[in-house]
Amino acid sequence: MKILVTGGAGFIGSNFIHYIISEHSDWEIINLDKLTYAGNLENLKNVEGNPRYRFVRGDITDGKLVGSLLQEGIDAIVNFAAESHVDRSILDVLPFIETNIKGTQTLLEGAHQYKVGKFIQVSTDEVYGSTEKGKFIEESPLSPNSPYAASKAAADLLCHAYWKTYQLPLVITRCSNNLGPFQFPEKLIPLAITNALEDKSIPIYGDGLNIRDWISVLDHCRALDFVLQKGEPGEIYNIAANQEKTNLELIHELLDIMGKPQSLITFVTDRPGHDRRYALDITKITRELGWKPTYSFEQALTATVNWYVNHESWWRQIKSGDYAGYYDRMYSHR
Ligand code: NAD
Ligand code: TYD
Repeated sequence: MKILVTGGAGFIGSNFIHYIISEHSDWEIINLDKLTYAGNLENLKNVEGNPRYRFVRGDITDGKLVGSLLQEGIDAIVNFAAESHVDRSILDVLPFIETNIKGTQTLLEGAHQYKVGKFIQVSTDEVYGSTEKGKFIEESPLSPNSPYAASKAAADLLCHAYWKTYQLPLVITRCSNNLGPFQFPEKLIPLAITNALEDKSIPIYGDGLNIRDWISVLDHCRALDFVLQKGEPGEIYNIAANQEKTNLELIHELLDIMGKPQSLITFVTDRPGHDRRYALDITKITRELGWKPTYSFEQALTATVNWYVNHESWWRQIKSGDYAGYYDRMYSHR
């Protein structure tokens, strides 16, 4: 199988590439990535020289480039490429519209023209919006609250349209919050770990009681592999590990693992429109595809802490470059 992975230099995409290259000895990957602030070729050092892996720097909104890659004969597209940070989408939504919506449409059009056999749209639980009780199923209405989530929901609807109109064999996956190696330290867990390692405060939005449902990035990658091989065209699959934590519970546990004081926690102004709780029902993927999560939250969190402890130069390079002062700039308007 020859796969076009987009956004493979980011957090989940790079984990997916490592996973596929080691699990499937005859599969090939082309990684198309624009290398935005979130894309980092350091994440892919281990596969760089592998003859089954090729990197192409480019933008998924570039139809000509996408067409030239698809012309080579691609069996499947897995679309990770996105602007992915809610806080950034609140400050400037345009890159989200451009990449998440127009970029997805460009890939869908290319897949349609070149008759690509499988298209996986890597979407998110955030398209369902927030719920205080119960869990979202795949038929739950889309009710996104942040500009990021709205752009991902728009992409999901475009996918639906390409399935209904052209029977493009595509599958949408909606996963909960991931944790693991190579996550950019603007997101809660890597931000907290790296700040704690520097004995800096950890900003908690609002009352810290917002709930997220955490899954190891490795379990997400395994689920995507199941979907690639067994997913039914036109279907949507929720992916989660049903491990709900308030942000405060999570940070308490993290500081305990790291042996750092709870006093590092600092409450800051809440994120506008901050979703209270995400929760997914995963009956469909477990029953129909036979996938289930394998890592507990505690295992995944400990492994993630250890990875950041052992890869200090990776995150120090990010935190000392353009990213330095990022947090102050991000919140200077509040
Ligand atoms: P990320 O921000 O770490 O990586 C995004 C990657 O996309 C980067 O390498 C970036 O350079 C690339 N990219 C951005 N714009 C591009 C463009 N126009 N053309 C080509 N490449 C471009 O994101 P992530 O956390 O790895 O998320 C990957 C996907 O998974 C996203 O679609 C996101 O919506 C989805 N998702 C993420 C989570 C999570 O917890 N992180 C959960 C569910 C779904
Ligand atoms: P984040 O990692 O940005 O993921 P998402 O908003 O896509 O779920 O945030 C996870 C949770 O942590 C969310 O409820 C917002 C909160 N949060 C903080 O409290 N402080 C922070 O500095 C960040 C980045 C997030």
